[in-house]
Amino acid sequence: MLRKGITVWLTGLSGSGKSTLASSLSGALDELNYPTCILDGDVLRGGLCSDLDFSFSGRVENMRRAGEAAILIAHSGVICIVSLISPYHEMREKIRSRHRQENINFFEVYLSAPLEVCEQRDPKGLYKKARNGQLTGFTGIDDPYEIPVDPDIVLPTHRMDCEGATEVLLKQLFHQALDETG
Ligand code: ADX
Repeated sequence: MLRKGITVWLTGLSGSGKSTLASSLSGALDELNYPTCILDGDVLRGGLCSDLDFSFSGRVENMRRAGEAAILIAHSGVICIVSLISPYHEMREKIRSRHRQENINFFEVYLSAPLEVCEQRDPKGLYKKARNGQLTGFTGIDDPYEIPVDPDIVLPTHRMDCEGATEVLLKQLFHQALDETG
């Protein structure tokens, strides 16, 4: 039987652990025989969204495309895991509402590692560049990140490792979202 897909939307600052969690969650779901697909911000920006910049309108369009792509993917019975900074509350709500229209479950996950921690991790060296003026409009430094108002789950990724976060998320997904898809 074809299961109904859902979208698991990971939002948080750069360096909060979205991509790592996305692949860990995907691996865990694969083992349980749930088909998954990852839409990652860095990957999308290398292809589907390569024409977009990091201006307000560029980010809005980036989010819109990721949201619409996720709907198409979820319609085919796949769990679509989106890992995108997706900094704007209103846009995330629009994407939620598009999912509602399409009768697809939208599960918003906020990775709440604070700026100080993400900046210290700085896996790509971008915070450093933003601080010394080589990069402008960087999320959390001189561009906003609007904290989710009512996410489906908050994962304090500064206080838990990837394995722990995957476990908690998986549990909540089965509790709140996946049991409706069987
Ligand atoms: S979003 O804000 O439009 O949702 P997205 O998740 O696609 O961002 O891309 C974020 C990634 O782009 C970051 O992890 C980082 O590697 C890179 N990046 C480059 N410039 C910026 C910037 N100005 N702000 C945030 N991320 C940037």
